Amino acid sequence: MPSARQTYDLVIAANRLPVDKVVTDSGESEWRRSPGGLVTAMESVMRSQPGAWVGWAGDTGEAPEPFDEDGIHLRPVPLSADEVRDYYEGFSNDTLWPIYHDVIVPASFHRDWWSSYQTVNQRFAEAVAEVAAEGARVWVQDYQLQLVPALVRKLRPDVRIGWFNHIPFPPVELFAQLPWRTQLLDGLLGADFLGFQRQADSRNFVRACRQLLGARTKRDLVTVEGSHRRVRAAAMPISVDFKGLEELAKQPDVMARAREIRASLGDPEVLMLGVDRLDYTKGIRHRLKAYEELLSEGRFGPPEVTLVQVATPSRERVDAYRILRGEVEQTVGRINGELGKIGAPAVHYLHHSYPREEMAALFQAADVMLVTPLRDGMNLVAKEYVTCRHDLGGALVLSEFTGAWHELHQAFACNPHDIEGLKQTILRAINTPAKDKQRIMRALRRRVADHDVQRWAARYLAALDAAPDVPRPSLVS
Ligand code: ADP
Ligand code: G6P
Repeated sequence: MPSARQTYDLVIAANRLPVDKVVTDSGESEWRRSPGGLVTAMESVMRSQPGAWVGWAGDTGEAPEPFDEDGIHLRPVPLSADEVRDYYEGFSNDTLWPIYHDVIVPASFHRDWWSSYQTVNQRFAEAVAEVAAEGARVWVQDYQLQLVPALVRKLRPDVRIGWFNHIPFPPVELFAQLPWRTQLLDGLLGADFLGFQRQADSRNFVRACRQLLGARTKRDLVTVEGSHRRVRAAAMPISVDFKGLEELAKQPDVMARAREIRASLGDPEVLMLGVDRLDYTKGIRHRLKAYEELLSEGRFGPPEVTLVQVATPSRERVDAYRILRGEVEQTVGRINGELGKIGAPAVHYLHHSYPREEMAALFQAADVMLVTPLRDGMNLVAKEYVTCRHDLGGALVLSEFTGAWHELHQAFACNPHDIEGLKQTILRAINTPAKDKQRIMRALRRRVADHDVQRWAARYLAALDAAPDVPRPSLVS
């Protein structure tokens, strides 16, 4: 039966909505911007065109009624407390996340978690099928929803289905550990087009299809057994809203705030900055170790040099995250206890979320931005930093294990596992003459300006439209 409810030509499905419903200390609930790079990127894409966003509102129990915000139709999907534990914290973030990030911490495999993942993916697919117009483009996001493409195809063979992976796709040797590897691949192969951050990721996917499913593959095409459909898998690195963020960073009050931040830190000669979700993939411990060693060797110290580490709370009920938080906070305490001075701590540690204006001011205030992940699909912080440096100031230290490094080659590249090398890179970033650093910053900015998130979305949707096979007409009347 045709539904009276409004439908959309573009529907994205992501685990999280762009806003989270949170209950404040006073017991009232309010909407707050959700954490993470996916939301940053997709929100700017969706604000510039009509469409619906299907996702979880961040609380448990009944979902809030659908509503419109900033021109986006938001369609909340409910999760029970058990599903948050099993589908989100468990299967998504304690099974898939470690496997997809080089097993920096061990992955846990539980059949209950898998069952919950299937149930929730089915619920997302049903919500998508309800809001998608005839022939719509459905754009599924990230590792939490890998079964959704095939489930949507079953419900709505008339729509075009894309999926984009914001995180790395692992080499087949790691992916093969997953007891549910073939189901995950079959889920993804329900799409017409699959986008990845790096070529290595799309190749890993194609190889997994060949080796684990016995699928026929040719370059970036995988032929689906039985249906003879062909699915394309290609790299399409995500980006930031360069114009919008640069404009924000040019606002006089943001620039004044950047000066105020420096002044409140005692106007150091060198202000270093780290901005990450508190995640073991981000290399925060390696960064602190390199910094601590530089301080204890007397290479520099506070008040002339100081470090601000912003660590956004993340996935706090998952053991690996709880342990990491303890380790980071203990290390910061030790560094400050042993190497800080009265009125001049060596590390300013902030475990909060901030508004975009404050982030832009922080980026402008920082002489050296430390982006040192052990593995990261892209790392938008690196691109945001260069976007905010319209003054051509600052230096970006960037891990080779980020997607961003594949585009931002001119940055001060580092291997965060090599602590000695990381120390040397930090010193180089500090000591390189200003005019050379300006030249580097200009090149980095040009790259991000030319490859912003709007261009990424347009390229993605064009690739989706051009995907090899044409969808079948609707079975729904
Ligand atoms: P991830 O998606 O893994 O968290 P990214 O670097 O790709 O990593 O994206 C992180 C996003 O979250 C960026 O847009 C960044 O500006 C934002 N962010 C990180 N920390 C904070 C914070 N403390 N307050 C507000 N925004 C933050
Ligand atoms: C990364 C993932 C996103 C996720 C975000 C925040 O960017 O790719 O899918 O939303 O981290 O993590 P969280 O678990 O809080 O949603």
